[in-house]
Amino acid sequence: MKSTIDYTKRIVLNGTLLFLLGALFLGCSNFNITNYYENGAVASSTPIATKIGSDLFRQGGNAFDVAVAVGLTLAVVHPEAGNIGGGGFALIRDGKSKEVRTLDFREKAPMAAHQDMFLDNDSNVIDDLSTLGALASGVPGTVVGLYELWEAYGTLPWENLVGIAASLADSGFIVDQKLAEKFAVYKNELSEFEETADIFLPGGNTPKAGDRLIQKDLAKTLYKIASQGPDGFYKGETAELIDSCMKKYDGIITTEDLETYDVIWRKPIVFNFDSLLIYSMPPPSSGGIILGQILKLVEPFDLSRYTSQSPEFIHLFCEMSRLAFADRSEHLGDPDYYAIPSGLLDSTYLDKRRGLFDPEHAGLSEITFPGIPAIESEETTHFSVCDKHGNMVAITYTINTSFGSKLVVDGAGFLLNNEMDDFSVKPGVPNVFGLIGGEANKIEPGKRMLSSMSPTLVLKNGKPLLVLGTPGGSKIITVVAQAIINFTRFGLTPIETVSHPRCHHQWLPDILYLEEGSFDINVLQTLIRYGHNIKEISHYSDLQLIYIDEDNGLMSPVSDPRKRGSSGGY
Ligand code: DON
Repeated sequence: MKSTIDYTKRIVLNGTLLFLLGALFLGCSNFNITNYYENGAVASSTPIATKIGSDLFRQGGNAFDVAVAVGLTLAVVHPEAGNIGGGGFALIRDGKSKEVRTLDFREKAPMAAHQDMFLDNDSNVIDDLSTLGALASGVPGTVVGLYELWEAYGTLPWENLVGIAASLADSGFIVDQKLAEKFAVYKNELSEFEETADIFLPGGNTPKAGDRLIQKDLAKTLYKIASQGPDGFYKGETAELIDSCMKKYDGIITTEDLETYDVIWRKPIVFNFDSLLIYSMPPPSSGGIILGQILKLVEPFDLSRYTSQSPEFIHLFCEMSRLAFADRSEHLGDPDYYAIPSGLLDSTYLDKRRGLFDPEHAGLSEITFPGIPAIESEETTHFSVCDKHGNMVAITYTINTSFGSKLVVDGAGFLLNNEMDDFSVKPGVPNVFGLIGGEANKIEPGKRMLSSMSPTLVLKNGKPLLVLGTPGGSKIITVVAQAIINFTRFGLTPIETVSHPRCHHQWLPDILYLEEGSFDINVLQTLIRYGHNIKEISHYSDLQLIYIDEDNGLMSPVSDPRKRGSSGGY
C-alpha cells in the first residue's frame, strides 16, 4: 500500500544535481554539497559555529561538547537568535546507553507574573508589551541547560567550551552580508534601548558586512560563566545586572527567580511512522504531539499516487495540520500546570479525526477569533550534531522573535528574550505567530510558555537515521513533518529534503501558506478550487539536518540554503 523508497542508495546520484538546481532555484551562494563525515557532523545557522564544532570533533570532542560550544558561539555570532538570555529544548540520544532523553530549559514566567499582565483596565491587550522590553522576558534557561548537558555527557573542559565563545566576543568576529542585512532591517527596534544601541548601533549605524563586531560586556559575562558555571549567570554580578535592568525598565524578573530557575529532564514523545521510530519534544513544547498527530494522520495514505509538490498532497498535508493545530490551541500547555489529555496520539482518536478529511474540499476552521497572518520573524535557531559513538543532539533554542525583547542587559551584554508572548496573553487573541490559546496556556507564575520548537531524532532499525530541527515559530512543526515525509515517503535526498518548497496550515488563521514562487500556477489553482485561502510567503525557516547512513555510519549534514547556515564535520 505505502511506498517506501530506499533513500540510502539515492543520495550520491541525486546530490550534485540537486545542489545545482537548488542553488539556481533559491539564488543562494552558500548551499552545501553533500559531504560525509566519519567522526562527527554538525549543521548550524552560521559558518563560524559550524567550523568551531568541526574543529572540536578533530580535537576529540563528542557530540555533546560540540553542541555546547555551538550553542554558546551562536550567542555571540548569531545575536538575532543565538543566546544566553533565552531558553530552549534538547533532544538527545546517548550512544552508550542508547537512551533518548529531552532536556527542557525553556524560560519560565517570573513569580510576579499573572494572567492579565499584558491587559489594560478594559481587558484589552496592550500593544507590544509582551514582545518589547523587560516585561516581555521569561526567566532565561540557556546557560544552565547547556551546563546540564555538558555535565551529563561532555568530555572536554567546560571552561574551554565557553572560552571559545568568550574570546570570540572579546576579539570580535567579521559580520557577513546576511547578518548585516538583518541588523539593517531591525535598525529601528535596535535603537529602542540605549544599551542595545551601544552594542549593535555603534556610531548610530548598524554593522556592515566586513565590519568586526566586538562585544566586551558579553565576553565578560561569558568568562564568568566559563569559570563559575551557571552561578556566573544566575548569581552574583550578572544576576544583579539583570535585576538593575528589570528595575530600570519595569520588568519583574527578580534575583530569586534567577536563583530558583531549574531545568527538567523529560521523557520524549515517541511514536512510529512507517518502520521508523521518531522522538520529539514533549510539552511544554507542542512540537512532539503535533508532529506526531500530523505524521500519524498522514501515515495510512498511499502517497505513491502523488508527488511531493502535487496539490493533492499539499491539501492532504495541510488538512491534517489544520486538525492537529486545532488541538494545539485547546489542549496544550505546561504539563506541570495543566492536565494535558493523554489520548492525543491514540489511534482510535486519530482515526476519528482523519475521518473529517475531504480529499477535494478545504475544511472550515471555526473563525471565532480574528486571525492574523503569521508574521515573518525568523529568529529561533536550531543545530544538529552527532558523532561516531551514536550520540545524537538536536537543540532548538530561542529568544523568540528577532533580537528577542530588543533589550540588552546593561553591563552584561546579552539580549533578553520576549518569550512571554508565547503564552496566551488573552484567550483567543493570537500571538506573534498567529497562534491562539486559552486556559491550558494562560500565564501563571513559574509556568513555562507553550512552544512549537521540535528538535527531533529519527531511528531506523534501532540505529540513528536523522537529527533535525528548525526555527520558524508555528511553522517549525510543519517543516519538520514535511522533511520526514519528503525524505522517507518521497525518497528525496538530504539536500532535496532541506531545500524542498514548503507549505503550512495552522488551523487559524484559516490560510494555506505556500513558499513564494515555489509552486506551479496549476497547483495554486487546484488548491483554490478545493476552497483554500492561499497566501505566498518568502522563504522561511532554517532546517538543520543530519542523515546517518545505516550501513556504514557515515554522517551527512545539510544546512538550509535559505539562510546563512553551514554544515561540517570531521
Ligand atoms: O517557542 C516557540 O515556539 C517560539 N518562541 C519559537 C520562535 C521562533 O521560532 C521564531 N523564529 N522563527
